[in-house]
Amino acid sequence: MKSTRNLLIELLEKNKDNYISGQHMSNKLGVSRSAIWKHMKELEKDGYEIIGVPKKGYQITRFPSKVSENTIQWGLNTKWLGKNLVHKESIESTQILGHQLAIEGSKHGTVIVADTQTAGKGRMERKWYSTNGQGIWMSMILRPTLLPHQAPQITLLAATVLADVIKEQTGIVPSIKWPNDVLINDKKISGILTEMQAEQDCIQYIILGIGININQTIDHLPDDIKEIATSLKIETEKDWNIRDFIQHFLVRFEQVYQLFLDNGFSSVKQSWESYAYKIGQTVTIQTFHKKSQAKLVGIKADGALIIENESGKKETLYSAEIQW
Ligand code: BTN
Repeated sequence: MKSTRNLLIELLEKNKDNYISGQHMSNKLGVSRSAIWKHMKELEKDGYEIIGVPKKGYQITRFPSKVSENTIQWGLNTKWLGKNLVHKESIESTQILGHQLAIEGSKHGTVIVADTQTAGKGRMERKWYSTNGQGIWMSMILRPTLLPHQAPQITLLAATVLADVIKEQTGIVPSIKWPNDVLINDKKISGILTEMQAEQDCIQYIILGIGININQTIDHLPDDIKEIATSLKIETEKDWNIRDFIQHFLVRFEQVYQLFLDNGFSSVKQSWESYAYKIGQTVTIQTFHKKSQAKLVGIKADGALIIENESGKKETLYSAEIQW
């Protein structure tokens, strides 16, 4: 059910070219005029600009770009994703809160967003830099009825969704380094971390974490990743609205996720392959026990990586890292 705050924002948005009276809003929403006034004050704190003219009523004149629960949810055109949303200014890691909330029973589609993370986590125990207000640091709780071995397909799906959104919003065609690093001009703009709680034959929940560098300049990137990382701002030379980007991502993710559940992995696979990085080329691959040169052949029907090793033999890898 929508909160009064969101219903109020919707009402103001529908009437953004007119004034709307306090009495009309109070009738529509079934709350007192003083409650309406209090909500307006709260919205102003979130960066909404609302003018009030005696005898005419209220009109919204500016929607904020600031990230908050309200601003993300306002106008968010999804059915279930992000309907339950938690925004924190600063947090250790959205993954950690994601696990806590999932264990406490938070529902499928819960989204956690932070302005900054003090201990952002990357894959393979690496650290993830999350500069304040300059990127998207977000985790979502998913409860799919899939087998545990299918979970990595959701990670590939998330990477294709992000590549689609970047392409649609910026016109730049990114590439995806298996399994899920999204690159622009061969530099990493986003990383995806999938963590799962499962029993042998069922997934209890997945915490899908996505980090996207948006508005950092090169000076904001730490020295140890300057050579290999980038941001949307660095690539396009302009600032991007983080709230809008989150909304685009959530809307597209929900659509593609539904298609995946209805039709299986094949359409995701096709989309993933259209963005694939260095397919047909020889790269250095690090697996659990060795580092070697191999040709990237493609991905299998289940998302696993197919390589051709130094002796010309095909191998399937479920866990590995393609090195820079
Ligand atoms: C990687 O490329 O190594 C994965 C990086 C994942 C980073 C995101 S940011 C939001 C979420 N919270 C975390 O602590 N990590 C993920």
